[in-house]
Amino acid sequence: MTQHTALVTGGNRGIGQAICKGLVDTGVSVVLAARDPEAGQAAAREMNADHAIRVEALDLTDPGSAADCAARLERAGILVDILVNNAAILPDGDALSVPETDIEAAWSTNVRGAWQMVRSFTPGMAARGWGRIVNLSSGWGSFAEGLGGPAAYSVTKAALNALTVSLARTLPATVKVNAMCPGWVRTRMGGATATRSPEEGADTAIWLATLPDDGPTGGFFRSHRRIDW
Ligand SMILES: NC(=O)c1ccc[n+]([C@@H]2O[C@H](COP(=O)([O-])OP(=O)(O)OC[C@H]3O[C@@H](n4cnc5c(N)ncnc54)[C@H](OP(=O)(O)O)[C@@H]3O)[C@@H](O)[C@H]2O)c1
Repeated sequence: MTQHTALVTGGNRGIGQAICKGLVDTGVSVVLAARDPEAGQAAAREMNADHAIRVEALDLTDPGSAADCAARLERAGILVDILVNNAAILPDGDALSVPETDIEAAWSTNVRGAWQMVRSFTPGMAARGWGRIVNLSSGWGSFAEGLGGPAAYSVTKAALNALTVSLARTLPATVKVNAMCPGWVRTRMGGATATRSPEEGADTAIWLATLPDDGPTGGFFRSHRRIDW
């Protein structure tokens, strides 16, 4: 079996950490990308997975960070063929009250950063003839579900969904790209009263990250089922 390597953004806590652990458990090597590499190392130790996890610094609000991370990995001979765009922020406020600084932060983290990650890592996947991209979206980014939730979050998740559709048209069929909603998950973002564990939230992302060659591309999923944009 081919040994795959996944990069997970925001892998130091929450759903991202559970995705890292789930991928390690399926035999995938993991690059855990974190704003604070020490938090990333601590997360890897907590999972007893230091052997299968390499930690890389990545701040999606820094426009050069994705390309720098890709260049470091290339120099180290690490070929990423699974990209999980997990990191995001959830600023409060409706479309009229949300501060400009929060709009900018949500855009750069939730959309531009994910987009730059795709541009930095998919050329290698396409050249090698195999790749999987998973975009952690939300029901709050779904037109069909009413774009509920704070405006900067909903609008940027809808944009991430749009990016998913656009990429599926552009990428070769060997590189699959899908968006997913993890449900309401007990993390710092989801809060303590959420209905799902981080492992339950990670499950569909792990499935999409390891899809077989006849698996779907250009779709939006929750609990392994296709949902409407
Ligand atoms: N939890 C839910 O109920 C829920 C529901 C629907 C969708 N989602 C989506 O699922 C994904 C994971 O959510 P979560 O609940 O695990 O969130 P979380 O607990 O708030 O974790 C967010 C992660 O993103 C990282 N991050 C934030 N800004 C970053 C930046 N500029 N550069 C790099 N990393 C950054 C954080 O790093 P730091 O530790 O450094 O802050 C953290 O690792 C997100 O895309 C979220 O929108 C979650």
